[in-house]
Amino acid sequence: MTEVECTVRYSAPGRINLIGEHTDYNFGYALPIALPERTLVTFLPGSGDSLVVRSDREADPVEFPLNTIPGEVTGWAAYVAGVVWALQLAGYAVPGGEMSVSGGVDIGSGLASSAALECATLGALLSAAGLAVDRVEQAQIARRAENEYVGAPTGLMDQLAILFAEPRRAQLIDFQHLTARSVTFDPDAHDLALLLINSHATHQHAGGEYAARRASCERAAAALGVTSLREVQDRGASALHVVPDPEDTRRARHIITENQRVLDTVDALHDSNFSEVGRLLTASHSSMRDDFEITTDHIDLIADTAVQAGALGARMTGGGFGGCVIALVDAAAVGIVAGAVRESVRRAGFREPTVVRTHPGHGAGG
Ligand code: GLA
Repeated sequence: MTEVECTVRYSAPGRINLIGEHTDYNFGYALPIALPERTLVTFLPGSGDSLVVRSDREADPVEFPLNTIPGEVTGWAAYVAGVVWALQLAGYAVPGGEMSVSGGVDIGSGLASSAALECATLGALLSAAGLAVDRVEQAQIARRAENEYVGAPTGLMDQLAILFAEPRRAQLIDFQHLTARSVTFDPDAHDLALLLINSHATHQHAGGEYAARRASCERAAAALGVTSLREVQDRGASALHVVPDPEDTRRARHIITENQRVLDTVDALHDSNFSEVGRLLTASHSSMRDDFEITTDHIDLIADTAVQAGALGARMTGGGFGGCVIALVDAAAVGIVAGAVRESVRRAGFREPTVVRTHPGHGAGG
């Protein structure tokens, strides 16, 4: 076989979460889509016991042994090394060789660039080894790499979104049962546009705020005598009156109301009731701003301006503290909304945002 024949190419998209933020590690619901932008991994397997990784965004390659351990590789290549490590722990032997990464997903923008890199690496290594692993297990291996090798205490949403995504559809993910149900989401077919507004204010989930939100939710669940907030979902936010700490109560209220908004969004999409979808997006943003407190003035300005300029609804997407806002807009109003957002951001002295009309893309694949 020639080198070209041995080379494996595998790519994975970034994701936009339409609604359902920080619900994943609370065993709730989310409704993500894939981005058209993808991270591509090209892998040439070799016979040695190390992997050399290059990235088109980095000057130097990184080499590590296949039996790598957490702490050995840091920075961008830790996501790749973490996947190799997590695959081993799951009992899958993969070859070493030379890997190159070309990134199409913006880093630190709340679009799951880390999970895109993990899932593309995982897919390339499994293909090269001729191993078939189901998508839920793949998501768990990739998440383990991020949690235990990189050290970011994230949930399973990004990986499941990336692995299950389909064009013109969103995925209703149930994190209790680990299922993904495909839901039609095709704004273009209704003369609507989904705008992705990147503030270019970047975030870091290995930092303390994400972990602090997670700890708040866990304390609230413990005060309720349950192992996850999902167990009190049916009782609604009124169940939270026994939680002693008012801040924990607000955090948990976001989770319980957000889960309901996800389910209501699925119903509204089923009825093609896009004004209701927009209302739910905006309500989700308010809950992230007031109860979960993961937005910033910059992000609030973008979301508020989009709605004031005529968007049906707008919300921050992703883990928070920067990143992107999505807005659902009449196709005819795209220019007005984009112009109003650019103008208000400029006047407030923030960096010029990037505004693109986007569409649900394909999931990870070779
Ligand atoms: C990040 C994490 C996900 C999820 C979101 C918030 O993207 O990686 O697991 O918790 O934040 O919804």
